[in-house]
Amino acid sequence: MQKFTIRRPDDWHLHLRDGAVLEGVVGDTSRHFARAIIMPNLVPPVVTTADAAAYRERIVKALPAGDRFQPLMTLYLTEHTDPDDVEEGKKSGLITAVKLYPAGATTNSHGGVRNMDKAMPVLERMAKIGLPLCVHGEVTSPDVDIFDREAVFIETVLDPLRQRLPELKVTMEHVTTSDGIDYIKSAKANLAGSITTHHLIINRNAILVGGIRPHYYCLPVAKRESHRLALRAAATSGDARFFLGTDSAPHVDPLKECACGCAGIYTSVNTMSCLAHVFEQEGALDKLEAFTSLNGPAWYGLPVNEDRITLIRRAESVAFPDKIETGAGAITVFDPMFPLHWDVESNH
Ligand code: NCD
Ligand code: ZN
Repeated sequence: MQKFTIRRPDDWHLHLRDGAVLEGVVGDTSRHFARAIIMPNLVPPVVTTADAAAYRERIVKALPAGDRFQPLMTLYLTEHTDPDDVEEGKKSGLITAVKLYPAGATTNSHGGVRNMDKAMPVLERMAKIGLPLCVHGEVTSPDVDIFDREAVFIETVLDPLRQRLPELKVTMEHVTTSDGIDYIKSAKANLAGSITTHHLIINRNAILVGGIRPHYYCLPVAKRESHRLALRAAATSGDARFFLGTDSAPHVDPLKECACGCAGIYTSVNTMSCLAHVFEQEGALDKLEAFTSLNGPAWYGLPVNEDRITLIRRAESVAFPDKIETGAGAITVFDPMFPLHWDVESNH
């Protein structure tokens, strides 16, 4: 297949940041994507419906002229989140999901949840009104190895929560292990998972072999090869429980290239080209549309996009910038370490 057309994709997990970084990055998503679930881990985080409404306005204002991109807003769950405010946010159409960051799990997550019992009133309300919970599925205790944190989270936090509240819809975000894939597949209902572009391409060697490479460091950290293969199998299977959430997470280069670099990989620029490459390698180009454009809307109860994009395979490799410039500084673009030949040809 040298050329094919799919419904315009959506990104079900995206960091747009704020201010000059927001202005510098939002166009890289709105160029190809119709909608994205916007992560609320700003400083300070987006915790109330009013915060989300104000942030949404800033995003819309930063969009390049003519782009019709729709930000889908989330609230950052804290132990003090007000169930009534969450319900208002859902009713008004502003809030698509609530995000659970275990406190300390990742960038700007110190205000997250320490004790799940304290979050139960909000979670019960969400189950009642059908508002999904997006989870960063890693435990944070120092005695759990970083490569085991997803599997331990499933066993000690996620499964008990789902048994306690089976009606709660849970998106396990950026799944990185075969344990996560197996757990999602084993669920009868109310569980789905997003998978990033980069976790389909890199394993942990990319970060550590031949020198430490901060631009491949993200959370959850990439795991060993067998896990990457499990993610690829799930993403390219067409199984409706798996869909794209890029977790594109821009940090300016000085915050990545230092003694304690931030977690996050910036993939918005070349995500569709990378994904077409992966799906082609797996002999599954016919499943790309399900992963990027059909499964996500079905899970979140939203209509699919009516307009389309065309992917074309070019004989020459497609050049992407190594970095993008923003008013806050340069941000390195994800390098898949192979030439990319798929290009998004046109916007209809
Ligand atoms: C994200 C960020 O930078 O905000 N980083 C990352 O490595 N993915 C946070 C997150 O989603 O864990
Ligand atoms: Zn993220």
